[in-house]
Amino acid sequence: MDIRKLNTDENPPMDLLLLADPSRTLVEEYVQRGECFIAESDNQMIGVYVLLPTRPETVELVNIAVVENQHGKGIGKQLVVNAVQTAKSKGYKTIEVGTGNSSIGQLALYQKCDFRITGVDIDFFIRHYPEEIFENGIQCRDMIRLSQGL
Ligand code: COA
Repeated sequence: MDIRKLNTDENPPMDLLLLADPSRTLVEEYVQRGECFIAESDNQMIGVYVLLPTRPETVELVNIAVVENQHGKGIGKQLVVNAVQTAKSKGYKTIEVGTGNSSIGQLALYQKCDFRITGVDIDFFIRHYPEEIFENGIQCRDMIRLSQGL
């Protein structure tokens, strides 16, 4: 598997990006403001993430996703590790990520990759998404914020 930056003449993989965030508007904004990286295997795009500069020396990992038939094979973890290394090599001092209170697997993944929980944005998903979201039998209301020093 190769992970590389998306070229300017390539279209971002919207189907894949929308797996991580149901809001097309937010995804399009993130992709435009950030840098998109893709994972490829046998000429197929199998994963994606976006690095979005937020505050000075801080970047946020947004829209990380792996094609559904490849979940659970370690690709997501490789993408998170790659995102952390890329952010560090670009001189950022902090990388952040946010996920839903109901996203149990994602919370496990980020903590296994050395992110620490730093805060909770209460009712973020209620305020920003028109539809109710449920995962693992839990309503997704709050955004759990995680961070890692680089
Ligand atoms: N409890 C404990 N650990 C769990 C877990 C759980 N319920 N669910 C996942 N994990 C762990 C796995 O065991 C693995 O750790 P390990 O390598 O130490 O075993 C790690 O989390 C991630 O596994 P991996 O196979 O690398 O993940 P993946 O390739 O399936 O990708 C996502 C993970 C989140 C990118 C993928 O599920 C996806 O694309 N989801 C849809 C989009 C999305 O939700 N994006 C994130 C938005 S915040």
